[in-house]
Amino acid sequence: MDNQDRIYTILLVDDEEGIRNVLNITLTHAGFKVLLAPDGDRGLAVFRDRKPDIVITDIKMPGIDGIELLREIKQISPDTEVIMITGHGDMDLAVKSLQYEAADFITKPIDSEELETSVGKAVDRISINARIKSYMDGLESLIREKDRKIDESESLVTIGQTVAGMSHVIKNIAGGLKGSSFILEQGIENENREYLVKGWEMMKGNIDKITNLSLDLLNYAKTSRLKPDRINPNVPAEEVMALLTPRAAAQDIRFSIRPLETELQISVDQTAIYNAVFNLVTNAFDSFAGQGKSSGERRVDLEVDVEKNNGNNWVLYRVRDNGAGMEKGVSDLLFKEFITTKGTHGTGFGLMTTRKIIDEHKGGISFETQKGKGSVFSIRIPAG
Ligand SMILES: Nc1ncnc2c1ncn2[C@@H]1O[C@H](COP(=O)(O)OP(=O)(O)OP(=O)(O)O)[C@@H](O)[C@H]1O
Ligand SMILES: [Mg+2]
Repeated sequence: MDNQDRIYTILLVDDEEGIRNVLNITLTHAGFKVLLAPDGDRGLAVFRDRKPDIVITDIKMPGIDGIELLREIKQISPDTEVIMITGHGDMDLAVKSLQYEAADFITKPIDSEELETSVGKAVDRISINARIKSYMDGLESLIREKDRKIDESESLVTIGQTVAGMSHVIKNIAGGLKGSSFILEQGIENENREYLVKGWEMMKGNIDKITNLSLDLLNYAKTSRLKPDRINPNVPAEEVMALLTPRAAAQDIRFSIRPLETELQISVDQTAIYNAVFNLVTNAFDSFAGQGKSSGERRVDLEVDVEKNNGNNWVLYRVRDNGAGMEKGVSDLLFKEFITTKGTHGTGFGLMTTRKIIDEHKGGISFETQKGKGSVFSIRIPAG
């Protein structure tokens, strides 16, 4: 296995002394520094003290079990690679550990080749992450240096953030695909139809996600080749209304539109503005997810308005919901990162793309939100 140019430390947690001894010999022989712990409690203490690069833990142990240990470790250090040792019949636990981002599984009885492959992959991921990080650090200092060339550095920051945000999204999808193929493999091996169905469902979800991601990426990467048209600003809003009314009904949402009354024309890329408004409205719909139907009437209002500011005319699209609102931790990052709170259902591209569209129209986007009360997102476009 490829140890690169430094010695990696592995913490091995297992309550069976025999397994500890054998794995200790194999891993030490392969060039690793090995730390041992006989149970989850002591494993956690050693982890805190020594910060190993990789943890290999038995999934079933008395006291703190492997899952709990995995959770604690990921909370302390999300980048640590944790490999789970599973026995026959630990399928449910194995699936659960996927949710907490276990890196891999090795099954008992442990085959030393399987062990070396798994640890080798973990080492590769660590060194790739380290390279990305040093690249990003380098990029940041480069940007700081060239602070005076503001235009250039701004685009580098954007690229840096895009790469960082994307690698997170892709890592999530890769984790999901790995999990589903693990379940499928178990299903095939054990001729278990339930695992096959479960694995396939997960796999389909991840395929959808990667398809959406590539479409999002294409949209996001499209350099600003706006195709402006003179249109009535109500048109994109009414298109969104027409397309999303059935979805609103299905989700028990009262979705209403207040179009602009005065006759006005603006120069915009109609499809782009439609996409921007569409993103805001679907986010507003999603803000009710997880709320029981008994929590009152769900409302989403889409309003088209005009505003005079500093002698200029602006067209406003305002999307108001009385859904869940946002935590400060989320709202602070909205336009800076690909942030999503929707697990595998969201990518966090929606608002980034929306903002890009609005920037390209020399407009602005803002929002107000109150946790538990709802949010208002406003887009302004110069009306010329
Ligand atoms: N109206 C809203 N109410 C509550 N939270 C919101 C609202 N709009 C956005 N958010 C929060 O901002 C996050 C980012 O939104 P964004 O549209 O960028 O991505 P997403 O909706 O999660 O995924 P995607 O749009 O790619 O499907 C959401 O996950 C959600 O947490
Ligand atoms: Mg969205």
